[in-house]
Amino acid sequence: MTSLLEIRDLHKRYGTVEVLKGVDCSMRQGEVISIIGSSGSGKTTMLRCINMLEEFQGGTIAIDGQEIGYETADGVRRRKPEREIARQRALTGMAFQQFNLFPHMTAAANVMLGLVKVKKMSRDEARALAEKWLDRVGLLSRKDHYPGQLSGGQQQRVAIARAIAMNPKLMLFDEVTSALDPELVNEVLQVIKALAEDGMSMLIVTHEMRFAYEVSSRVIFMNQGRIGEEGNPREMFLKPKTERLAEFLKTSAFN
Ligand SMILES: Nc1ncnc2c1ncn2[C@@H]1O[C@H](COP(=O)(O)OP(=O)(O)O)[C@@H](O)[C@H]1O
Ligand SMILES: [Mg+2]
Repeated sequence: MTSLLEIRDLHKRYGTVEVLKGVDCSMRQGEVISIIGSSGSGKTTMLRCINMLEEFQGGTIAIDGQEIGYETADGVRRRKPEREIARQRALTGMAFQQFNLFPHMTAAANVMLGLVKVKKMSRDEARALAEKWLDRVGLLSRKDHYPGQLSGGQQQRVAIARAIAMNPKLMLFDEVTSALDPELVNEVLQVIKALAEDGMSMLIVTHEMRFAYEVSSRVIFMNQGRIGEEGNPREMFLKPKTERLAEFLKTSAFN
């Protein structure tokens, strides 16, 4: 069986600074992998490469057996045509620390936009799907509210509904609770947990260690542009093998 995601020897530089120094990762359908690690270790960069928001200089990323972003012919590596990259980008959905909702559009209109513009659905179809997903994140009653009328936690749930409504094979979450007031964190984590329980494949960059422990099938610890350690949550959080991970956990309030 092919993996859902297969990353081999991924190298990424910004100018002359190498920030991903050979990352390998293989993920099956339905897995929930949390990525933890210090600020600057390359977590966001890894997600952005998978989503083709960043170019990368070496290695390969394949989703569902399709090589993402580049093709190699006669030993020459070339970026795929932009239209192909746009199509491949739709294999993944991404939610960020900043929700990036359109402020002049209602919650429902934000979710509908990609369905109509990219998926070419009729407005009626798109509205029905938007309502289904807003319901799933507990916000059907707020569908006609504008982002400014919603709390940060509610806005983030709309952003997650918007990404998932596009039917990606893999969801990427990058610190989606980091910008929220503490009392709003949990409602967002609960939404992600429910999606995980439904079998959605996800890569989750998070500082919420208790959540990572509870929701993940596997945890990856990024350290200075490499995978420092990986394993199941019990091994990782309770019996770290490397000094680096043990140190990181001490500073990250896992208790
Ligand atoms: N656009 C950029 N230009 C130059 N360096 C960058 C850029 N984005 C990130 N970096 C650097 O890449 C490294 C990894 O960053 P990042 O992937 O954001 O880490 P993390 O998400 O783990 O905090 C850091 O040293 C950061 O300063
Ligand atoms: Mg980051």
